[in-house]
Amino acid sequence: YLLGIDIGTSGTKTALFDELGNTVASATQEYPLYQPQIGWAEQEPEDWWNAAVETIKQVLSKSSVDPSDIKGIGLTGQMHGMVLLDKEGKVLRPAIIWCDQRTQEECDQITEIIGKDRLIEITANPALTGFTASKVMWVKNHQPEIFEKINKILLPKDYIRYRLTGEFATEVSDASGMQFLDVPRRTWSREIVDKLGIDYEWLPAVYESPEVSGKVSQQAAQLTGLLPGTPVVGGGGDQAAGAVGNGIVKPGVISSTIGTSGVVFAYMDQVKIDPKGRVHTFCHAVPNTWHVMGVTQGAGLSLQWMRNNFGGMERELAKFMGIDPYVLMDAEAEKAVPGCQGLIYLPYLMGERTPHLDPYAKGVFFGLSAKHGRSEMIRAVMEGVAYSLRDCLEIIKEMGVQVSEVRASGGGGKSKLWRQIQADVFNSPITTINSTEGPAFGAALLAGVGTGVYGSVPEACEAAIKRVGVQQPIESNVRVYDKYYEVYKGLYYALKDSY
Ligand code: XUL
Repeated sequence: YLLGIDIGTSGTKTALFDELGNTVASATQEYPLYQPQIGWAEQEPEDWWNAAVETIKQVLSKSSVDPSDIKGIGLTGQMHGMVLLDKEGKVLRPAIIWCDQRTQEECDQITEIIGKDRLIEITANPALTGFTASKVMWVKNHQPEIFEKINKILLPKDYIRYRLTGEFATEVSDASGMQFLDVPRRTWSREIVDKLGIDYEWLPAVYESPEVSGKVSQQAAQLTGLLPGTPVVGGGGDQAAGAVGNGIVKPGVISSTIGTSGVVFAYMDQVKIDPKGRVHTFCHAVPNTWHVMGVTQGAGLSLQWMRNNFGGMERELAKFMGIDPYVLMDAEAEKAVPGCQGLIYLPYLMGERTPHLDPYAKGVFFGLSAKHGRSEMIRAVMEGVAYSLRDCLEIIKEMGVQVSEVRASGGGGKSKLWRQIQADVFNSPITTINSTEGPAFGAALLAGVGTGVYGSVPEACEAAIKRVGVQQPIESNVRVYDKYYEVYKGLYYALKDSY
C-alpha cells in the first residue's frame, strides 16, 4: 500500500491506495483561509499539520491495513506558499500563500535586481506575485524584525515533511515555483539568492520527486499511528503530482484541472519557455523532464464563491437531501442555454496569471439583461472559467507543445456539465480516468517509484491509471462558444484601465 497526503488550499486530503491504483480509504479535513485585506491570502501551518495528523489517523482506522504494510508516503500540496521557521523550527508568521497578490512592488524589485532576461534564463519565469521569492522579499521590506529571525524557508507540503520526519527537504517540481531554483539545471541558483540577500542555508535540500527524502520519526509515528521509519519521498507540487496521478507523463496527453485554481498542464522533455512569461515552465515530477502550465487564479474558487454567496437554496436543499450542493447547481445551470445569451463572466476574483499576469484584475459579469437569472449566472461562471482555461491551452499550443488528448480532473472535473462545457469551449474530446484523487494519488505513485514498487513514473502510471470516459465536443455549441470567446478575450482589455 501507498499513502498520499495533499495539503490543499481548502483542506488536507490523505488517501491510501493499493498498487493497482484503487483507493482503499481517504479522509479530508478543511481549514480556514484568512484574507486580512483585499488580495491578501494567509493560512496557519499548524492547521495543515493538525489536518494531516487527523486525516492520517482516520485513514488508518477506516482501512484494515496494517501500518507496516504501507511501503511509502508521498507528499503534495498547494505550491508557492511561504513558511518561515526560526532556529528552533517554530513558525515565524502565518504562511503567505499562492493566491496572495500583495507583492507586485517586490516583483518589480526582483526584476530590477536580477534583470528580466537573466531571471527568465535561470528560473524560466518572470517575477510573479504568486511565487515564493516575492513573498520573502515582502517580509524583508515590511517585517524586517521577522526577516532577521529566518532560519528556513519551506513550502506547505515541505513543512509537513519537517513535522513528519524532522528533515528540511523539498523536490524539484515545487521548488521551481519558489523562483530560487535554476529550472534547467534542477538545483538552487546561488546567483538569485545571493543577489536577493537571502541566505543559501535557509533553503532545504532539493531532491528529484520520487527520491526518498526522510523517514517517519518516532514522535510523528506516535501522533499518527504510522510505523516509525516509513519512507517519505520528495513528492510534488499539487500540479505536478496531480499530473502524475492523471498520467500526464509523456508528450500529447495534457490535463485541465479545476481545483480552487484552474490549470492546463503539459509534459515536456526539454525546457521550452513562453517569451512573454504567460505560462509557467517548471521541473516535472518525472526525473529530468519539465512541464508547462497555464494557471487561472479563480476557477473552482469562482463557483465556490457563487455557492457561498448566492447558493443558499442549493445549500439548504442539499443538506436536506444529503447530497453535494454543486450537483444541484449543475442542474440549475443546465436550464440555461450554452453561451447564456451573451452573459459572460471573467473569473478574476484573485487577479489573474495566464494570460494577463495582472494581480489587480477583478471579476466581472458582462451583458446582464432582465432576461437573465440564477441559472445563467451559475452557467456563465462555469463558461467563464472554461474560457480562461482555453486562454492557457492556446498559449501552450502556440509554443509548439503537442496536444492530442485533454484529461479533465479536479473537483470541477467531476461535473459532467463542466466537462462538456470544456469539450465545447476547447473543441476537443475530454477524457476521464479511473482515479479522481488527483494530487494525493500522484504523490502515492511517486512513493511507489521511490520505494521500488514500480520501476519508473511512467511504469507506475501504466500500472495504475485507466481511461474510463470520453465526451466529444458538440458542433453547434462549439460555434456559439467560439463567438463568445472572442468577446471574452476583448473584455479584459476594455476594462483593464478601470480596475
Ligand atoms: C500553481 C498554483 C496553484 C496552487 C494551488 O502554480 O499556484 O495551482 O498550487 O493549487
